[in-house]
Amino acid sequence: FAQEPTVGERKQVDNVAHRGATAYAPENTIAGFDLAVDMKADYIEIDVQRSKDGELVLIHDTTVNRTTDGTGKVGDLTFEQLRSLDAGSWKGEEFVGEQIPTFEEILDRYRGKVGILIELKAPELYPGMEEQVAEALKERNLDKPQNEKIIIQSFNFKSMKKMNELLPAVPIGVLTSNRAHTTPEALQEFSTYADWFNPSYGIVTKELVNQVHSLGMQIGSWTVRSQEAADFLFEMGVDAIISDYPDYVDPRN
Ligand code: G3P
Ligand code: CA
Repeated sequence: FAQEPTVGERKQVDNVAHRGATAYAPENTIAGFDLAVDMKADYIEIDVQRSKDGELVLIHDTTVNRTTDGTGKVGDLTFEQLRSLDAGSWKGEEFVGEQIPTFEEILDRYRGKVGILIELKAPELYPGMEEQVAEALKERNLDKPQNEKIIIQSFNFKSMKKMNELLPAVPIGVLTSNRAHTTPEALQEFSTYADWFNPSYGIVTKELVNQVHSLGMQIGSWTVRSQEAADFLFEMGVDAIISDYPDYVDPRN
């Protein structure tokens, strides 16, 4: 490998704002993504699902119950119904009126300003979602990212294989918290279509980081909610830290 870039004595690690600056603002909202940009995140991480009438929207859970003032499954609600919900007030009065964003508006608002780590959340619930995501990226010439940083990831490996076929030039990531997915055989299989192996930090070891690197992939780990966890991952030598606190991972700290 080429010599890795460093900040001071430390390797340069991508600072990924998990669902935005989630410790400080409602997840998967413009308020949270704007704050992440202010905190100098390298990427925002977004969770993509689909409304009943086919609009790609950003929300983490497969129901709206926890993060909005509504109830029901995301895929059972129309875009108009989803858009009418308040996705901010659960986090604090100052966020009243935040709406569930669309995937496309977030691409348009943040491209070129910050990297976008796109998670397809439960794609098995939304048949054809991969083609839709690919189309939205192609329409914006984001299918051949050069200076604009885009990664697509999921816990659904089949979906990511498909995504790699649809968009061969876009980096693909696989997500897991399962040690069974860290065997040499499993990692080898992932490396046939993925560029990133993104495990929960509880299963990260230096050996795992080395194995992933030796297969030509990068490794990003989640979800960091303490300085100790961030420091552990710096020590392990990961390439990206996915955190609710983008300020903990600020390379200037
Ligand atoms: O980016 C990693 C992380 O987002 C995966 O877990 O449940 O927060 O979507 P989750
Ligand atoms: Ca996510």
